[in-house]
Amino acid sequence: MTYVCENSLHDAVNKAATDLFTFSYKHVVKPHFVFNKTPDVAHDQMIEFCKATRNIPPLMWALRSMLNYTDPILETDVMGIHFDNPFGLSAGLDKDCDMPVLLDNAGFGFETVGSTTSRPCLGNPRPWFHRLPEYDSMMVHVGLANDGSNEVISRVDQARGHVKDMKLSVSIARSNDQLCGDLEEGIEDYCISMKRATGRSAMVEVNISCPNTAVGEPFTDSPEALDKLFTALDKIERPQPTLVKMPLNKTWDEFRELIDVLADHNVQGLTIANLQKDRTGMPDIPRDWLGGLSGSPCYALGNEIIRRAYREYGQRFAIAGVGGVFTPEQAYAKIRAGSSLVMFISALMYRGPQTITVLKRGLADLLTRDGFAQVSDAVGVDA
Ligand SMILES: Cc1cc2nc3c(=O)[nH]c(=O)nc-3n(C[C@H](O)[C@H](O)[C@H](O)COP(=O)(O)O)c2cc1C
Repeated sequence: MTYVCENSLHDAVNKAATDLFTFSYKHVVKPHFVFNKTPDVAHDQMIEFCKATRNIPPLMWALRSMLNYTDPILETDVMGIHFDNPFGLSAGLDKDCDMPVLLDNAGFGFETVGSTTSRPCLGNPRPWFHRLPEYDSMMVHVGLANDGSNEVISRVDQARGHVKDMKLSVSIARSNDQLCGDLEEGIEDYCISMKRATGRSAMVEVNISCPNTAVGEPFTDSPEALDKLFTALDKIERPQPTLVKMPLNKTWDEFRELIDVLADHNVQGLTIANLQKDRTGMPDIPRDWLGGLSGSPCYALGNEIIRRAYREYGQRFAIAGVGGVFTPEQAYAKIRAGSSLVMFISALMYRGPQTITVLKRGLADLLTRDGFAQVSDAVGVDA
């Protein structure tokens, strides 16, 4: 295989196409097709657009030819899995597994489908989203709407046969509906989805930190509850590595207590972290807007936790860093803090789909500038 970076013509086409996408998204698509609608409508239309375009092979070919930047410096092996690049879609945008073919052709290293739950969920009452462009952020209050893990994980399994390079991860969470019971019921709910996921994705992410559910976060509020959950999950044999989606708003001591529990279980990775619940410094957000904040408000605190987690647990866990990544410099900072993988969502909405190419190309340049032969060599150098 020839890498794009090694073929000067392909490299020039890729760069020009990326610049064109950046310009078009900023000046045409975002103002006239996305931000002129409520975020809920724009979100639903985006999903419909993905469903329609993924079935048009020439379009997918054009997308891959123009946007998929490949470079050996970006290749990496994490938790026993080979990734073409360390960038992935974070959980939440593709809850029902509608986007793998599109994201594969666009050049994502991996995507996290879900979060999905044992029972299909309608989610919270609308609106689910509010835009906060002044903070490069989105207020999110979806509440785990999805088609249910039976359906969604079957789609993940099928999608694996349709993607070329991208790895598929599935995020499982606890159902958010009126049937929710006590802690034991919650554990059983995770176990049902974990059994469905066994052997059917490259990775599984266990989301214990959704801020938008009726039952709250019992598994991040108590290390004992977390221990019970993973004792039950340990009994489910699975070939793929497991990550845990961690909460952002914990003191380091609280965070460490949770990691100490996970260290005794069948868990290989930590995804740091979920949405920002703290609105300090953002007094203009209306009080009746419910939900957690994505984007820039997650960035600095997330990096700090990644750094500390890498310093103390870098030998035990791989870290997937997520929150507020819009530029290659920000992705690089997450890697230097200790992330082996980097995920994002908000940048797609605020900057456009070519963000994946901008990040890959920019990261390759930064690594080369600083003398790293591989992205893995830069992991944790600032920790
Ligand atoms: C639209 C949307 C839906 C989300 N839903 C989920 C979810 O279902 N499960 C989850 O673990 N995180 C969810 N998140 C959180 C993201 O995975 C991510 O942790 C957070 O948005 C920070 O990344 P970003 O700044 O790149 O958006 C969601 C975020 C957004 C924006």
